[in-house]
Amino acid sequence: MIKNKKLLILPGDGIGKEVIAPVLDIIDWMAKYKSISFDISERLVGGEAYDAEGDSISDKTLDEAINSDAVLFGAVGGPKWDNVEREKRPEAALLKLRKELDLFANLRPAIVFDALVNASSLKKELILGLDILILRELTSGVYFGKPRGIESINENEKKAVDTQSYTTSEVQRIARVAFDLAKKRSNKVTSVEKANVMETGMFWRKIVSEIHESEYNDVNLTHMYADNCAMQLIREPKQFDLIVTDNLFGDILSDCAAMLTGSLGMLPSASISNIDSTGKRLGMYEPVHGSAPDIAGQNKANPLAMIMSFAMMLKYSFDMDDESKLIEKSVQKVLANGLRTLDISQKEMQIVSTDEMGKAIIEQLNVLMGN
Ligand code: IPM
Ligand code: MG
Repeated sequence: MIKNKKLLILPGDGIGKEVIAPVLDIIDWMAKYKSISFDISERLVGGEAYDAEGDSISDKTLDEAINSDAVLFGAVGGPKWDNVEREKRPEAALLKLRKELDLFANLRPAIVFDALVNASSLKKELILGLDILILRELTSGVYFGKPRGIESINENEKKAVDTQSYTTSEVQRIARVAFDLAKKRSNKVTSVEKANVMETGMFWRKIVSEIHESEYNDVNLTHMYADNCAMQLIREPKQFDLIVTDNLFGDILSDCAAMLTGSLGMLPSASISNIDSTGKRLGMYEPVHGSAPDIAGQNKANPLAMIMSFAMMLKYSFDMDDESKLIEKSVQKVLANGLRTLDISQKEMQIVSTDEMGKAIIEQLNVLMGN
């Protein structure tokens, strides 16, 4: 048996719980057929944690996350908590986890599966074979910049402030992750900002260029303004391989990139820290889609983004590349066999529930393993 790895499961709200269930089945399957086991604990996060524990993430849960080898996160939020104060909102739990675990590098791959090429709103030839990676800086920028808040100017006038800020080391470390990842892909990085209008944009461009010149001049680097990048993603997405950008632009551009693939229900993500002095790297893995309250509790959600987030966890937190690929392959096969959840449904394809999709993945894993 390989040594147990501590895994914290945070299903969260809405479809979060539903899409994590098939992952737990895969974990059981791995214990049985691969002799790989995890030491699993599960806790509340998001709106349900707010209702039960008074905050969207308790200190105990946060502590447990810091002491885990990896965190598997479902989704948080829902209309029920729309009026909760900002610091306790379901989304605040997500931001706290990112910040406290220092998960500054957020990997959002957008891959078009051959079987799903018709699910995109773009022409087939534009997206066939598309495989891009958005690398989003996740722990700084306008999401965390100070000062922020609303202040009164006079009796009739108020002012709302958010601050976009980046330090040298914050840009350096995400740039290094970008170049390192690019070396394992097409050796090509597009760095995205608004250097034409923003101080932080100019600063970002300068530091990325410096790191490139001094440490990675064998990697192909181009710079692009964020508005142009949004346009180019729709016009000719295959010109990109890896896009590195700040927290807010990354949030927006990754939704754009996601939709190229046809459904948000297909997009996994990994958020990772640097390796610390003890050799440990923290990682949190979550689907890009949200809690989808409109279909929650109906066994309709697409579990594939969650399943592929788990595959990313195997790869980035546990160096289990083979097992990670095995899961990705079974996803491809199941799609090629014509199984679809509602969000990716196509004519003449079989619509399946969340559970059924999960079972199909396990069956496929057995086929691939020759069980
Ligand atoms: C994302 C989400 C989050 C973000 C929200 C839920 C806080 O949109 O992960 O992309 O804005 O970062
Ligand atoms: Mg987003």
